[in-house]
Amino acid sequence: MSIETASPEIIAKAAAALSAGELVAFPTETVYGLGALATDDRAVAEIFATKARPQLNPLIVHVYDDAAVQKLAVFSDVAQKLATAFWPGPMSLVLAMRQPTLLSPLVTAGNDTVAIRVPAHPIARDLLKAVGQPIAAPSANRSGHVSPTTAAHVAEDLGSRVAHIIDGGPTTHGLESTIVDVSGPNPILLRPGSITAEMLANVLDHDIIIVNKKTNTPNAPGQLSSHYAPNAALRLDAEAATHGEALLAFGPLKAKSTAPVFNLSETGDLVEAAANLFAGLRYLDDQGTNTIAVMEIPNHGLGVAINDRLARAAAPRS
Ligand code: TXA
Ligand code: MG
Repeated sequence: MSIETASPEIIAKAAAALSAGELVAFPTETVYGLGALATDDRAVAEIFATKARPQLNPLIVHVYDDAAVQKLAVFSDVAQKLATAFWPGPMSLVLAMRQPTLLSPLVTAGNDTVAIRVPAHPIARDLLKAVGQPIAAPSANRSGHVSPTTAAHVAEDLGSRVAHIIDGGPTTHGLESTIVDVSGPNPILLRPGSITAEMLANVLDHDIIIVNKKTNTPNAPGQLSSHYAPNAALRLDAEAATHGEALLAFGPLKAKSTAPVFNLSETGDLVEAAANLFAGLRYLDDQGTNTIAVMEIPNHGLGVAINDRLARAAAPRS
């Protein structure tokens, strides 16, 4: 494994590796992705093996621009509006797949829909442009574990199994893309993210259906209940850490804590908290605690996406 700082040479080398069917971890503005050529069955199978990911859980396909999306999927009016407003950016759309398709059936887990994203991160864009093919890329972590927001996180989780990791520094948003299913008549928010439900509603005439967290209905095959999980257990909505716990704080602390503390944002800024969330969970895990007490995060705007990740990280593990 090698972590290499992004440069035109490294991107050209990574593009050649992808084209040859190898895996490459790369930064996006949300989290780091583990990429493979989406048309190559063997390369896509390698993603599932490397992450120990259940094969029923479909992957997001990353492409350079709208023209590349059109080759793979069919845009509805709603899809077109969202694409115009938020691409390139931290949003994935679930679209009806165009047939026949060049995509490996493993990418979509046999569904007739495909999740597509046009990322904004310059390294991701340069890589997509150089490859000229769709890249399937889940978050570059062990399946079920905390998503990576730095190249070092990728190396911690998958280092021995991934030959190429492109380092582009810490990611800006820190949470995975907002996923909206626009394959049917009404848009369905499958995964909250930096593009909030309010932002989506502002550009649409339609109401957004928000998926039920408990039952994961109507349709989110990969939204398993335990996910984004550190090794330690989580105790949500805590006021402070009790004996033996570590504290994931938000906002100013009333008393000095003797427990290990990671403050997501001392000023109570949700954007900063989202960007720090996964690094904070990893940091507190490394302190060797059994339980991470998590202070309450306001459940509005970006707080909805942060609380979604925390609820899954706290869910019972199988
Ligand atoms: O920000 C992100 O989206 C990152 C970066 C690398 O792009 N990727 C990411 O991928 O978070 P992953 O595999 O960790 O999460 C993809 C989610 C899964 O919950 C999966 O079930 C869902 O997208 N998904 C993929 N295809 C789908 C489809 N056709 N219908 C419904 N959900 C789908
Ligand atoms: Mg993931």
